[in-house]
Amino acid sequence: MNLSEKYQSVREYTKAICQPLQTEDYVVQPVADVSPPKWHIGHTTWFFETFILKPYLKDYKEFDPSFNYVFNSYYETVGARVIRTDRGNLSRPTVEEIYKYRKYVDAAMNEFLQQNLSKEIREIVVLGLNHEQQHQELLLTDIKYILGNNPLFPAYQSSSEQANHEDFDSKNPFIQVAEGIYEIGYEGNEFCFDNELQKHPVFLTDFKIAKKLVSNGEYLEFMNSGGYKNFNYWLADGWEWVKANRVEGPMYWHLINGEWHYYTLGGLQLLDLNEPVCHVSYYEANAFAEWKQMRLPTEFEWEIAANHFNWGRRWEWTESAYLPYPGFLKAPGAIGEYNGKFMVNQMVLRGASDVTSPGHTRITYRNFFQPNLRWQYTGIRLAQ
Ligand SMILES: [Fe+2]
Repeated sequence: MNLSEKYQSVREYTKAICQPLQTEDYVVQPVADVSPPKWHIGHTTWFFETFILKPYLKDYKEFDPSFNYVFNSYYETVGARVIRTDRGNLSRPTVEEIYKYRKYVDAAMNEFLQQNLSKEIREIVVLGLNHEQQHQELLLTDIKYILGNNPLFPAYQSSSEQANHEDFDSKNPFIQVAEGIYEIGYEGNEFCFDNELQKHPVFLTDFKIAKKLVSNGEYLEFMNSGGYKNFNYWLADGWEWVKANRVEGPMYWHLINGEWHYYTLGGLQLLDLNEPVCHVSYYEANAFAEWKQMRLPTEFEWEIAANHFNWGRRWEWTESAYLPYPGFLKAPGAIGEYNGKFMVNQMVLRGASDVTSPGHTRITYRNFFQPNLRWQYTGIRLAQ
């Protein structure tokens, strides 16, 4: 696939994700972390207009100069913007206008991508496509939050989220890795984010890591044995979080007439005990591991062992803080704001999830979220 075809296919997939939505679904922002779908489709378009078309397409005429204020997410270099918590208060621009904006930018990008482009410009286009793929996953998780917090629990699509359950040797549920110096980080000619670069050696002591993710059934045992009522299992911040939010189980779990149900993109379903647990915070993952008298893997252990187990169904919490690798380099200008400035107060997640866009996974990929967040498809893999 050449760059122009790749552009079209990624942009089409965003539209396909939104296809089942009603106009009203595009607008609401039930909590600060969940952006309205219309904002995602405007913002991903703004990215190409701001970082490609305005600087590099000769005679490009901006669609609407006021959109920069509305669709800039966090780029200080690019100027003032609507505060994040106010994204759901924007009844204008309308969904229809935003789709017109998308069409307008796509036409200009299509023209632009026919030209002979420098390596530097092609790299920004590829970054824009990977950025859009990140927002595709956010779109799905935000849609799930919007519909899953509606008292009617409407389904987004008819199919369920279940995949085939993996078979594995239950006598040997752990992989053993020997002490040594291992290489961490991305090296190669394909795309990666700046936070994966600078391959470097890391010393690891002997460790074991589970072949399988923690299941709903195992997590339910933790709940039934009083996991949420015993401070001993919890980090101090986690225990405060449990009490302040009266947390009693993973997000989207509902006890209805004595039976556990969970909300999926296919609607409300009976809890499947064999599915990997989903929508848990770092605090919960950490407390579960503590209860099991184990721990979470570090991101380095995960990266070294991941060739030996199946991954990709859940973003797996690690016990590594999100920090720069040695020699981390920030790109000049606004693009340098992409990852580096978020390297504080967040934990690294490895893997990918059921709703990660096709082709957007790598063993060196570093996702990151604050420890209390759980609206992403987050899960638990144990280590010891
Ligand atoms: Fe973004």
